[in-house]
Amino acid sequence: MKIRKAVFPVAGLGTRFLPATKASPKEMMPLVDKPLIQYVVEEAIDAGIREIIMITGRGKNAIEDHFDISFELEHTLKGKNKNKLLEEVQKISNLVDFWYIRQKEPLGLGHAILRTKDLIGNEPFAVLLGDDIIYSDIPVIRQLIDIYERYNVSVIAVEKIDRKEISSYGVIECKGIDDSVYQVLDMVEKPSISEAPSDLAIIGRYILTPEIFTALEKTEPDKSGEIHLTYGLRHLLKQQVIYAFQFKGKRYDAGNKLGFLKATVEFALRRPDLGDDFREYLKGLEL
Ligand code: G1P
Repeated sequence: MKIRKAVFPVAGLGTRFLPATKASPKEMMPLVDKPLIQYVVEEAIDAGIREIIMITGRGKNAIEDHFDISFELEHTLKGKNKNKLLEEVQKISNLVDFWYIRQKEPLGLGHAILRTKDLIGNEPFAVLLGDDIIYSDIPVIRQLIDIYERYNVSVIAVEKIDRKEISSYGVIECKGIDDSVYQVLDMVEKPSISEAPSDLAIIGRYILTPEIFTALEKTEPDKSGEIHLTYGLRHLLKQQVIYAFQFKGKRYDAGNKLGFLKATVEFALRRPDLGDDFREYLKGLEL
């Protein structure tokens, strides 16, 4: 079955970027001049996704406005003959169909995804987490769709991570199937270094079969009341095979300050209109 829908959980509070995120969503922070969320939405669209479901929360209205028509702005740009900017602004609202669901309480990624059960229905779908920004030739979610189309099972993106940082991720235990393709045998959410079953960490791109919803319904919340997607996937494993794919691309963890800074610098250096001047500036820096 074709993957047409993608889920974007964007209800997180963004506490790591306070005070910047006090009154505006972390997903709207820009890398150069484009909000983080738009990079990920464009990745989905380039991969052939035609419907996007965002799970939002309080204070996230700017995301809805960003992907909507902005009548006053378009009118002003038209009046001033700023056609290039007008095109850029209109392109965003014409991208695809957007749906918004509110997650009333921060009860975890699994809980957020469960909210989309009725909108997704009985078809496989993609999940993209906005903290993971990935620069690649082929959109990473497309790479996962290709694996899904080959094997017809849920597919999760993984990356080899330095053991020191493994405790920030879901980690898989697996066996190799093909070049960069693994069969998941088990998984654990944010293990200690000694408990991590491998150095393959789950990155925020997933293709999920609709059976994930019943699996999530069976998933117990943790001590803080959160339902983890990783543990929903663990339930799904009892019923279905899950594969992991070591994607090709450079990932930035834009959910932490250093990762965000690295992404900003590298995306700016890649820009044809800024790259050369910015590189010269960086070379000459004396601090
Ligand atoms: C989530 C998942 C985790 C995954 C990570 C990827 O964690 O729960 O399994 O490794 O995304 O970015 P979060 O970063 O939201 O705490």
